[in-house]
Amino acid sequence: MDVSERSRGLPRRSCLSTPGAADKFLAKAPTVTADMTFLDLEDSVAPAEKVPARRKVVDAIKNLRWDDRVLCVRVNGWDTEWTYGDVIEVVGSAGERLDEVMLPKVQSAAEVVALDLLLTQVEKNCGLPVGHVGIEAQIETTRGLINVEEICAASRRLETIIFGPADFAASMEMPVLTGGVAIPEYPGDHFHYVFSKILMAGRANGLQVIDGPYLYVRDLDGLREFSQRTRVLGFDGKWALTPDQAAVLNEVYSPTQEQFDHAWDILEAYRKATEQERRGAVMFGDEMIDEASRKIAHKFVARGERAGLRRSGAGSDELAGGS
Ligand code: GLV
Ligand code: MG
Repeated sequence: MDVSERSRGLPRRSCLSTPGAADKFLAKAPTVTADMTFLDLEDSVAPAEKVPARRKVVDAIKNLRWDDRVLCVRVNGWDTEWTYGDVIEVVGSAGERLDEVMLPKVQSAAEVVALDLLLTQVEKNCGLPVGHVGIEAQIETTRGLINVEEICAASRRLETIIFGPADFAASMEMPVLTGGVAIPEYPGDHFHYVFSKILMAGRANGLQVIDGPYLYVRDLDGLREFSQRTRVLGFDGKWALTPDQAAVLNEVYSPTQEQFDHAWDILEAYRKATEQERRGAVMFGDEMIDEASRKIAHKFVARGERAGLRRSGAGSDELAGGS
């Protein structure tokens, strides 16, 4: 199976959640500046609307103009009666503009494999190339977190792993009424272990790693502050529930121009040191740089380029391969 590469490397700084049963939000979604949009059939859709929402989501995918952003549908989890119908009806009719299916509440690698197999049959029946549709998996239960390493390695279709703080807080039985916000009584970051574990599992398998929603939607300063936690660890982006949240996240998860230029300067100085002076460790300003510094700078430049940054004052720098 050749998996599709179209959306794998696209930025996902902001991932806009759009309730699949709400005509108004569906119509507005393409106008919001977000790197990725997912049309939701899961928790933002009432049970009585689950089946009718499938058709609305298909119509939105086919008839609205989505530019080149990542476009995804969140289906219901395997612990419901809706998953297979969601996949057959939506993937079977949406056409090739649909990049991915998001699977919520993933508990084991087998759940990802089951979706992968079902997607293959649906693709064959509706004329899509096998491997066209990618998978995003949400880790939002204790069992899912325990199994996250196997989950991240379960299918070549996987493009991202996502943390779902609201469901996770429920699964942990945390005594909080809002998941995914700071808990002032806790001395530290109560999700630090969770963030690190998911990030390592995702990176070890070449996936993008995404943080979930921040539910105080009017508190943009709170969002900015809270999202620094996963940005600094190395996450690629976070969910947005509103256009204003998306605007904040596009900024938070991009390197600044200054950082981007600095990373380029390191790459250039290190290339000169190794190629012209044949030295593996040299001073760069006040800092000693070596091969590890090159790797860090390379990732930085790649992320900046993905976010649309260009080196100040430089015409056509090209990022040499390697990672
Ligand atoms: C997202 O789905 C969450 O549960 O936080
Ligand atoms: Mg959830």
